[in-house]
Amino acid sequence: MELKGKVAIVTGGSSGIGKELAAQLAGEGALVTITGRNEEKVKQAAEQLGVNGLRSDVSKPEDVQQLFSTILEQHGKLDILVNNAGFGAGWAELGELNFDDMVNVYQTNVFGAAMAGQEAAKIFKQQRSGNIVNIGSTASLKGYAKGSIYASSKFALRGLSQCWQADLRPYNVRVMHINPSEVTTAFGTGNGVSRPEVENKLRPKEIADQIIAQLKMDDRGFVPEVTIWATNPW
Ligand SMILES: NC(=O)c1ccc[n+]([C@@H]2O[C@H](COP(=O)([O-])OP(=O)(O)OC[C@H]3O[C@@H](n4cnc5c(N)ncnc54)[C@H](OP(=O)(O)O)[C@@H]3O)[C@@H](O)[C@H]2O)c1
Repeated sequence: MELKGKVAIVTGGSSGIGKELAAQLAGEGALVTITGRNEEKVKQAAEQLGVNGLRSDVSKPEDVQQLFSTILEQHGKLDILVNNAGFGAGWAELGELNFDDMVNVYQTNVFGAAMAGQEAAKIFKQQRSGNIVNIGSTASLKGYAKGSIYASSKFALRGLSQCWQADLRPYNVRVMHINPSEVTTAFGTGNGVSRPEVENKLRPKEIADQIIAQLKMDDRGFVPEVTIWATNPW
């Protein structure tokens, strides 16, 4: 697909993987809107990248509705939804889980992605075209100690990706699930500040490069799932 002139939403595009992807999409000529919960952070990132920025919390149904109606008012169409907004919290062994943490993580990583996917699908089915990119994780593939909340949320997202592929291929809609391993971003820092790059660990660039290549593939084909590892992160 040619990216020039395509309308894209990147949820959680104010830092990390989403921000780099938004920059690359804009560099290809796409019309990009990024979102995030922190208005100042979204505004700053949008200005820096030369894209649209909207404060929008994907875990809030009213924010999701507002986001999609704004996009339709501004552009009259949508070509790409990137469900990137996500975080981890409540790392604990079974027996010590905090269910408020579990609800919070699921509200963004699972229900938020599903709500955005649902709004995008309504548009894509009418258009008979569109792309959804779900940012999973290697935690979508394998559980680990203290990972109950985050890993299960990313397993759920992977399940949604597979169901949406089955639902939407007949409408010419591509759904791609991306599993990055560790990337040096603000993920897990707890303060929203990105970690410095480390020579042998993945950067947001490796993830965005891969997604751009997948989107650029001719629409007759798509890569349903991809996992990205650092070569030697130890
Ligand atoms: N970094 C890694 O090692 C890694 C590995 C595999 C997968 N991932 C996944 O990659 C995605 C991006 O994470 P990242 O590493 O780039 O972390 P990041 O730098 O912390 O970026 C997360 C982005 O999501 C936004 N966000 C969080 N909750 C949101 C919500 N409810 N509504 C809207 N925006 C929200 C954040 O902004 P606000 O806080 O202002 O809302 C921020 O823009 C996540 O889904 C994460 O699970 C990360």
